[in-house]
Amino acid sequence: MKILMVGGGGREHALIKKLKESRYAPEIICAPGNGGIACDARCFDVSAEDISGMVKLAKRENVDLVFVAPDNPLADGMVDELEAESVRAFGPTKAAAQIEASKVFAKNLMKKYGIPTAEYEVFDNPQAALEYIKSKNEFPTVIKADGLAFGKGVIIAQSMSEAETAISSLMEDKIFGESGSRIVIEQYITGPEVSVLAFCDGKTVKPMVSSMDFKRVFDGNIGPNTGGMGTISPNPYYTNEIAEICMEKIFVPTVKAMAAEGRPFKGCLYFGLMLTNDGPKVIEYNSRFGDPETQVVMPRLKTDLVDIINAVIDEKLDEIDIKWDNGAAACVVLASGGYPGKFEKGMIIKGLDKSGGAEGVTVYHAGTKLSDGRFLTSSGRVLGITATAPTVEEALEIAYDHIGKISFNGMHFRTDIGKC
Ligand code: AMP
Ligand code: GLY
Repeated sequence: MKILMVGGGGREHALIKKLKESRYAPEIICAPGNGGIACDARCFDVSAEDISGMVKLAKRENVDLVFVAPDNPLADGMVDELEAESVRAFGPTKAAAQIEASKVFAKNLMKKYGIPTAEYEVFDNPQAALEYIKSKNEFPTVIKADGLAFGKGVIIAQSMSEAETAISSLMEDKIFGESGSRIVIEQYITGPEVSVLAFCDGKTVKPMVSSMDFKRVFDGNIGPNTGGMGTISPNPYYTNEIAEICMEKIFVPTVKAMAAEGRPFKGCLYFGLMLTNDGPKVIEYNSRFGDPETQVVMPRLKTDLVDIINAVIDEKLDEIDIKWDNGAAACVVLASGGYPGKFEKGMIIKGLDKSGGAEGVTVYHAGTKLSDGRFLTSSGRVLGITATAPTVEEALEIAYDHIGKISFNGMHFRTDIGKC
């Protein structure tokens, strides 16, 4: 069996390491990959967004399966193009990936099918949006670009002047291009946040173990949002009782809604939830595995991932029993100096072994490249250090202990993952 992984971040590295544990012993190739992934899989210089290049690579390499992990190629229809060429692919079609690619689509879906989420209005005219915010006069208020925006399309405005700046930069200056030509204005809600990834085959939904993502760059949950500075699993707020409510009121209704809309969702559906005083509500959907959620969820998976992928594609998810480790996992991200703003690349990383790992922990490479046998930084998020242990506290201790051995110029990380 030969599998092509599309993407090149920490999430893809975690998926590849899990696939390597499969009893089918698949050969894994990856495009574009990164320095650490190159130690686990043969990498090809094809961009994750190059759909025709990826289809060509899949056919040339005669792969049995393509796993499309990142949001952009899913939103652009990579799975549809692969299937049109009779290549088996894991991931939602372009129509189903709209659940992430358009916040307006997602919000309207939730409204139509009674799935709990924050109140909202949609605007394609900046003046009308501003008048609405003025008339409501409730701050903070949440302003979201409709389309994909590198995870930066959500602005929480604390005042009318912040709202004015946000709306003009999204809709007039178009800082995220056409993604901001429509916006959603949403009620600000509060409560602990939970990430739940779920396998879906269009009909059946099987949630994975829960996790918690620490999105802000600095300790104490302050500073700008990032792609995620660390994660823990399980999420301490996500009790069995809440899980049951989510299953009944959110997960099953979402999968049924997508099928009823003629867009059955097959792949991994990510539920970004907020546990409010009125019960769990959906903050966002993603049409893919989360990053760095995958880095704490995959290490806890006991069932063969290849069997699950096949069950998803063949719509037989109801026939498979998915088992999880009862313990815990924690991941701390090591980032380049300046991230999520401007940062330099090409710093030498010290403290990794020849295969890019370190004893006692799993090192997932997010933004590294291999040059003359050395690992260099190549992106904002560089490494994810994951440890597993019976409890989250122990996992964190092990992960932080190892971080002391790894270094590069400008390296920064949060020291309070899992603690606030
Ligand atoms: P997203 O990119 O949609 O995950 O949003 C980024 C972050 O913004 C979320 O993790 C929340 O912390 C926050 N957020 C999004 N929507 C709301 C909302 N309606 N009320 C309060 N916070 C929100
Ligand atoms: N960690 C958040 C995401 O993957 O979107």
